[in-house]
Amino acid sequence: MAIAARLKPGETLGDRVMKVDHAGEHGAICIYRAQIRLARWRAPDLVAELRGFLAHERRHRALFGAELARRGRRRCRSYHLCGLGGFVLGALTGLAGRRAIAATTVAIETVVLRHMREQVAVLAAGDPAAAATLRDIIADEQEHHDRSDRRLASPGLWPKLINPIVTASTEAVIWLGMRL
Ligand SMILES: [Fe+2]
Ligand SMILES: [Fe+2]
Repeated sequence: MAIAARLKPGETLGDRVMKVDHAGEHGAICIYRAQIRLARWRAPDLVAELRGFLAHERRHRALFGAELARRGRRRCRSYHLCGLGGFVLGALTGLAGRRAIAATTVAIETVVLRHMREQVAVLAAGDPAAAATLRDIIADEQEHHDRSDRRLASPGLWPKLINPIVTASTEAVIWLGMRL
């Protein structure tokens, strides 16, 4: 297994993965912040769960941020793009309501979990600190996926609409981050 990346001189694959995932967690924070604002009106009973997810994402960003600081690396050039994209996606899906919110989390976490598991497999031997950080976070992401998936018990319109868009944009952001 290999992860495609265009690394800078002196940069390791683990450095780059920490950077891209740090930006991705920032995107997730922006999604949930926007969704929470709109869910107060569109789906008030979801707010407590979304606040819990947001707290996890803040912890994830801090963990990747600490790894970057320890390595003397700056944040990814895609950081603010992730934030902006996350906010727009969160606002649109928050406005659409509970099923769109759950479908968004399921779609994102499906892509994120696949990438993080691949990252652990590739980095385990050469960069144990990066792999340990990822393993810690994967457990939370799996929980977000599973809880949201249960909310979508009967598949309907929203997953069909949201899946391709969110999958493609999440993949694009990761692809770009690995090459910037
Ligand atoms: Fe996360
Ligand atoms: Fe998550």
